[in-house]
Amino acid sequence: MTSPLAIDGGSPVIPERLPSIRDASGRSLGAEELEQLREVITSGSLSFLYGRKTAEFEAAFAALYGVESAVSVSSGTAALHTALLYLNPEPGDEVILSPITDMGTAIPVLSQLAVPVFADVDPRTQSLDPASVEERITERTRAIIVTHIYGNPADMDAIMAIAARYGLFVIEDCAQALLATDRGRLCGTMGDIGCFSFQQSKHMTTGDGGMVIAREDGRFGRALRQCADKGWPRDKGGRDHLFLAPNYHMTELQAAVGLAQLRKLPGMVERRIRSAERLTAALAGVDVEPIAIRAETQGTFFFYGFRLAPERLRVPVTQVMKALTAEGIDGFVGYPGPIPLYKYPVIREHKTFGTSGWPFTLAAARNWNYADEICPVAEKACRETVCMWWTEGFGDDHPGEIAAAIAKVVAAYGQQG
Ligand SMILES: Cc1ncc(COP(=O)(O)O)c(C=O)c1O
Repeated sequence: MTSPLAIDGGSPVIPERLPSIRDASGRSLGAEELEQLREVITSGSLSFLYGRKTAEFEAAFAALYGVESAVSVSSGTAALHTALLYLNPEPGDEVILSPITDMGTAIPVLSQLAVPVFADVDPRTQSLDPASVEERITERTRAIIVTHIYGNPADMDAIMAIAARYGLFVIEDCAQALLATDRGRLCGTMGDIGCFSFQQSKHMTTGDGGMVIAREDGRFGRALRQCADKGWPRDKGGRDHLFLAPNYHMTELQAAVGLAQLRKLPGMVERRIRSAERLTAALAGVDVEPIAIRAETQGTFFFYGFRLAPERLRVPVTQVMKALTAEGIDGFVGYPGPIPLYKYPVIREHKTFGTSGWPFTLAAARNWNYADEICPVAEKACRETVCMWWTEGFGDDHPGEIAAAIAKVVAAYGQQG
């Protein structure tokens, strides 16, 4: 006889709290970071202006990605904003993006008074469906932001082919996909520009932080670095401000931690992948569908996501999640939540600049009703997906424990349960 669910008073399958990206149990922060920080503190220079850690971190990141230059910034949102500032769209221009991503992907679009246009996702991978992207293109479309969601490479070849046909700029949002690859090509190097986040939960962390990489060709008349530095061409000497741009500098303290973390990154990513692969193997025969990873690509497991089949469950997905939590699983329903990005007030209710409703109300903007099911595949995915926090801190036994917890709950709530 199977034991009662923990939510009903039984013993949880996972005996101890799982390692977590929220604290030292699931983060590899230690002597190397402290040593880097000590150097910065004793130098007395906490700004890139006078210290060397920011430049060193950027050079190390550029070398890892095999690109000429990398610009460090204060967050992943700042990285994406820097990328859009580089493109410099006109107010009312459209930018296509996925509804399954963090709000940090849409905020830069809104900040530039460009209109976010949501394309639907592939039901198995939950990344942008190239056919839906193409359907959404109009004469106002300037760019596509491709989020490599859950750490899995999106279909960049198909998207780049569409972008080439319509002359669009492609921004890769790699906030969840550090070191993910598609036939050996790193995510962030396949589009026009790649953006990364080092926020607490990411594959490596500086608390908050980000990076932008690009092959700069001057086609938009702006230098990438100036887009995160008040439009200031510091390399020319003196003070000048060529265009409107924020100050998104990373501090030397963040860069110091970043340098130490970057050296550990391949090992940390490898451990995430290894435990995820163990879980996938252990879930064989359990009635869940792990998020698909496209053939010949290597995902790096920001979350481990799996899909439930509500038609084969006797209770709502939210109840399954409560029961999983009681068994010791660290997760939640749907990304960014049980609703897609466009259903949050900032977009759905146009909560932007004063009462203007810009950019949604600009004459050029199409009249989307974000209360509608604009992207039905994404809506369903948000309701049916369980996202579990993943970390390099998992040991050999954790994937088996997690699988056993999922199997117990799904069996109890399945139609045969
Ligand atoms: C896919 C995606 N895009 C953008 C962001 C924004 O990054 P940040 O939180 O560092 O601003 C995140 C972070 O949560 C993310 O997961």
